[in-house]
Amino acid sequence: MSQPQSPFMFITDLDHTLVGDNNALAELNQQLQQHRQTHGTVIVYSTGRSLTLYRQLLTEVDLLEPDFLVLSVGTVIYSKGSETPSQDWIDYLSPDWDRTKVVAIAQSFPALTPQPESEQTQFKASYVIDGEAAQTVLPQLETALRTAQLDTQIIYSSAQDLDILPRRGNKGAAVAFLQEQVGMSGDRTVVCGDSGNDIAMFEAAAAKGIVVGNAKPELRGWYTNQATAETYLADAHCAGGILEGLLHFKFLD
Ligand code: GLC
Ligand code: MG
Repeated sequence: MSQPQSPFMFITDLDHTLVGDNNALAELNQQLQQHRQTHGTVIVYSTGRSLTLYRQLLTEVDLLEPDFLVLSVGTVIYSKGSETPSQDWIDYLSPDWDRTKVVAIAQSFPALTPQPESEQTQFKASYVIDGEAAQTVLPQLETALRTAQLDTQIIYSSAQDLDILPRRGNKGAAVAFLQEQVGMSGDRTVVCGDSGNDIAMFEAAAAKGIVVGNAKPELRGWYTNQATAETYLADAHCAGGILEGLLHFKFLD
């Protein structure tokens, strides 16, 4: 039994999940802010963006200040009020990650175009490749990384973005880390997303899930084939879909 009156940990992707419908966002912000003030609910943003692109987004939309900020596809974690990212998380991701070798292998695939410099971060190497080319190139890239004994994972989102990360780090692993930090159970945690890099949150984490109505095919496919009853597919888009899901799970009333 869920209780709308008790705190929960709210973890959401930004682009096309929290952000995308300004009216619904304003309504959701108001409800979450009130729940945080009254019940101590914890607000977490988990985005593929780097700090640079997150700051850019803040100039474009009104967002609440989160209690935790997870950047670069789960590989960087900031707590509110801290100027530096979590060292524990850096230490956890560091073993066996050799970014220079990862980039050298990726560069040997001409079909991969590097993303801007701001998105190339300590534990993330990012490229763009279109959906059709990806079908042949991604399996080859995976084989090349494995043959070089690089302990990595590749995550493909929105039929364009390719991220190469350490095996241990993704948005799902970051959820588990934060649950431990905050002491929040899976029952009182909810994750929200729209695309490929969010699948790890729905999969790895003990949490309820909200897939927004505008979700990309790769996440819809995951929902159709692998989702459990703990995951809710909303009709409404973006923040409207989140509100719908929070009511469905009775996190809000
Ligand atoms: C964001 C990041 C980009 C990443 C994408 C998918 O757009 O800026 O680097 O590839 O999310 O994870
Ligand atoms: Mg998104």
